[in-house]
Amino acid sequence: MVNLFIVANWKSNKTIEDTNNFLNEFKDLYIARDDVQVVICPPYLSVSTLSNFIATNNLKIDSGVQDISPFDDGAFTGEVSASQIKELVKFTIIGHSERRKYFGETDELLSKKCEKAQSAGIEIIFCVQNEDTPIPQGVKIVAYEPVEAIGTGHPDTPENADRVAAVIRAKHEGGIVLYGGSVTAENVNQFTSCVNIGGVLVGGASLNPSGFSSIIKNA
Ligand code: PGA
Repeated sequence: MVNLFIVANWKSNKTIEDTNNFLNEFKDLYIARDDVQVVICPPYLSVSTLSNFIATNNLKIDSGVQDISPFDDGAFTGEVSASQIKELVKFTIIGHSERRKYFGETDELLSKKCEKAQSAGIEIIFCVQNEDTPIPQGVKIVAYEPVEAIGTGHPDTPENADRVAAVIRAKHEGGIVLYGGSVTAENVNQFTSCVNIGGVLVGGASLNPSGFSSIIKNA
C-alpha cells in the first residue's frame, strides 16, 4: 500500500537528451517500493520521452507536469490543456511559488487550473507556502513549501513542517500533505517519518539519478 509520495520537480532543467541520460542511469539504480509512489515532473518538452521510457521499461513511476493551462483546448497560444496532456501524465503540480512569483499566478487563476485538471482526471499536487494559503475544492494532495526553504539548502525544521501539515490536514480531511524545500537524501527521512507528512516534493536533488534514487531508498 502506498503511504509516501516522492515527487521530482525538475523545473526548467534538462534537454530531451539529458532526460534520456538521466533515465538510462536511474533505471539501474532505482529500487521500486510498494509503499512509495514516485512521480517525475519534467519540463513539458520531455514528458513524452519520460512516459514512453516508463512504459517501455515497465517502471513503477508516474509522470506529471509542473503546471497546466487554466483554459480548454482552443485559441490559447503557447498553452497545453489538461485534456491534451492527460494521455501522458497522471499528475500535475499547480501553484508552485515560482509560478506565483514570476508569472503572477493568483489564487483565482490557480482555482481555474485545478478545475481543468480535475475535469480531465489529472491528480493535483497543489503547492502552498504556509498553512493560510487557500486550497481549491477537491484538491487531495497538498505540498507545503515555505519559500525561504526552496533551493536554499535551508529546509524547514521537521517539527514545524509536521505542525503545518497537521493544520492543513485538519482543514482538509483525508488530504495528503507533502513537504518540499531543500530535501536531500540526507534529510528526507526526518520529514517522511513525521506523522502528518505523506511524502516530499524535491527540486534540485531530483536532478541527479543517484541522488534521487537515494532519496527514494532513504525515505
Ligand atoms: P528544492 O525545490 O528541492 O530545490 O528546494 C523544491 C521545489 O521548489 O519544489
